[in-house]
Amino acid sequence: MLEQEIKIPASHAASYRIIIGMDILGSLWSRVEADFAGYNKFVVTDENLVSAGHLQKLLGREKAPTFIIKPAGETSKNIDTAVAIIEAMEKAYLGRDTLVVALGGGTVGDIAGFAAAIFKRGVLVLHIPTTTVAQADSSVGGKTGVDSSISKNAFGAFWHPAAVYIDVATLATLDDRQFRAGLVESVKHAIIADSEYFDFLECNLDAVFGRKPDVLEQVANWNCKIKGSVVEADPGEKNLRRILNYGHTIGHAVEAASGFELLHGEAVAIGIIAAGLIEIEMKLAEPGRLERIRQILQKLNVPVTLPKELADKDLIDLIKRDKKAVNKWPKFVLISKIGEVYSHDGQYVVDVAPEVVEKVLDKL
Ligand code: GLY
Repeated sequence: MLEQEIKIPASHAASYRIIIGMDILGSLWSRVEADFAGYNKFVVTDENLVSAGHLQKLLGREKAPTFIIKPAGETSKNIDTAVAIIEAMEKAYLGRDTLVVALGGGTVGDIAGFAAAIFKRGVLVLHIPTTTVAQADSSVGGKTGVDSSISKNAFGAFWHPAAVYIDVATLATLDDRQFRAGLVESVKHAIIADSEYFDFLECNLDAVFGRKPDVLEQVANWNCKIKGSVVEADPGEKNLRRILNYGHTIGHAVEAASGFELLHGEAVAIGIIAAGLIEIEMKLAEPGRLERIRQILQKLNVPVTLPKELADKDLIDLIKRDKKAVNKWPKFVLISKIGEVYSHDGQYVVDVAPEVVEKVLDKL
């Protein structure tokens, strides 16, 4: 079992532990009870976790009030679900000594984390992520939220977890498309922060696809180290943390243009290629770099070109609506080499002219 500690000094959590292991789900509840003795536990999960048997495995013979999100997925990530969770906690007579245990993928973690952030002005949340995207990205870092009818994460809070427990064996039941799309965030971590990790992923992708637990454990460990160190340095996303948005500016526009038919990781893969093309336009790329990135994404079997049906969508308009846009145009995260983000005047996001982005979109 691997362990890491993330320090977030100015937050309610101060620091939290990440535990990574294989086939540990069945023993996690006793750890939750031991680590959080004195807290009343409330589990939030979704129907997929129930049908996969993960909820039963976590609880064993123990009982805890549980809210099961139905249907699983983004359509339930709204304020009504958060309200329903909060009211379920009230009906169970829970107070500020509550520990919300979020068992599931990114959607479960985001909703449960948000409900925890606002219930009685904030109670603890512990994440047990069960998807590649949640284990790599969303369970660490404290971003929580639900969507409005207009945009994603319109209601949200930074609410750092009290702990993150990762069992890579839970990935065994994840469907192949979700599994591969979630790995795009791992590739992103390697691109922005660690060329050795990029080499590792290139060499070990077959073992990753074979869901070899020891390799998945190493992948989770690498992801949490990279993401954890960025979050420690900049928990509130003032500057450095923005590097985690590599590939996301155009990726989010592509995801929205697809009507969310593309999975987040699939859209981000296209966004990563777009960022690489921008780097070429801005003379920041050495020869062959984008090809290497394209190859690893192709091996993941995620899209690396803009799907034909999105060609006539107004992506520029969607980019202008990016939540981080200032004066209707966002800044971009670019890399100077694999493993290192390009910075200018100490800033990790840079100006890219709309004409450059338009040219790149034509090439996508
Ligand atoms: N997923 C990007 C972040 O947590 O900042």
